[in-house]
Amino acid sequence: MPNENPPLLEIKDLSVKFSRYGQGLSQQELEVISNLSVRVKAGQVLAVIGSSGSGKSLLAHAILGILPSNAISSGQMIYRGEELTQPRKMELRGREIALVPQSVSYLDPLMKVGEQVKGLFGSEEARRRVFQKYALQPEAADMYPFHLSGGMARRVLVATAVISEARLIIADEPTPGLHPSIAQEMVRHLRELADQGRAVMLITHELDLAFRIADQIAVFYGGTTVELASVEDFRQGPHALRHPYSRALWAALPENGFQPLPGFQPYAGQLPPGCLFAPRCPQKTGECLDYVAMRELKGGMVRCCHAS
Ligand SMILES: Nc1ncnc2c1ncn2[C@@H]1O[C@H](COP(=O)(O)OP(=O)(O)O)[C@@H](O)[C@H]1O
Ligand code: SF4
Ligand SMILES: [Mg+2]
Repeated sequence: MPNENPPLLEIKDLSVKFSRYGQGLSQQELEVISNLSVRVKAGQVLAVIGSSGSGKSLLAHAILGILPSNAISSGQMIYRGEELTQPRKMELRGREIALVPQSVSYLDPLMKVGEQVKGLFGSEEARRRVFQKYALQPEAADMYPFHLSGGMARRVLVATAVISEARLIIADEPTPGLHPSIAQEMVRHLRELADQGRAVMLITHELDLAFRIADQIAVFYGGTTVELASVEDFRQGPHALRHPYSRALWAALPENGFQPLPGFQPYAGQLPPGCLFAPRCPQKTGECLDYVAMRELKGGMVRCCHAS
């Protein structure tokens, strides 16, 4: 039933461009995200997967309203049934929508760790609980970020996001650099947060991580979404998947024979016409050189004119 559990956040046709100066001080625009659509529901983990440079972090920053000042974005973001405007993003940031950023450079170097984790809305008691959960020693509360090891700093970032009562938690590649047992605990905790009714967007380039905790998987390629599928579709394999790139990701997994996909993801500014995957796609035809829209298919979404 389409209206059952509507998305907490729905993004339709998001595009992000950066304006920059070219030769002779002429202004140029570089489109890095184009026509990207995703949706995430309360009680679910949406994994956003894609290789480096596919637009995952920019999507997170666009939702939070923290894109750089030379970024121009367009498209629609609907959060709890209302347009997510820039003033609303600022109001909800850290309160209803929390980010675990990809880089530890997001920690304030001049503020003690305990204060940062508590943030504007957390209590001392909640701070102690998350410290315990993420194996942070009580003494760490009085340290500054430069005192922390890389792994500790990452755990502090996660603690900062999960202490809030946020309905939507966006975790941007939260596990690299962590001890495997802490990484597993973190992933389990993100799942638990979803089971408690929050919505979690887990950004990762690791498909096997997505398999472990996600309900839905959004596949990014060259700054756009090419498929939105259930994790079950990915478990079933190629016949249940809608897009040739998703099938290639599946085939590249070690358990499926490690079959590499020749070629490279295109760079922003050098995108091919029509389907961005066409230069690597074994099924391309002349039709694929026209614009290909994202469409609903078999309970998911796909951007491929030949998917059926
Ligand atoms: N401030 C910026 N100015 C220009 N291009 C940018 C900027 N930030 C990111 N990009 C470009 O946007 C694309 C997507 O970046 P990003 O979202 O960080 O990728 P991902 O997180 O998937 O690795 C990349 O090609 C990157 O070079
Ligand atoms: S639209 Fe064409 S080129 Fe693109 S993925 Fe589908 S078949 Fe391949
Ligand atoms: Mg990133």
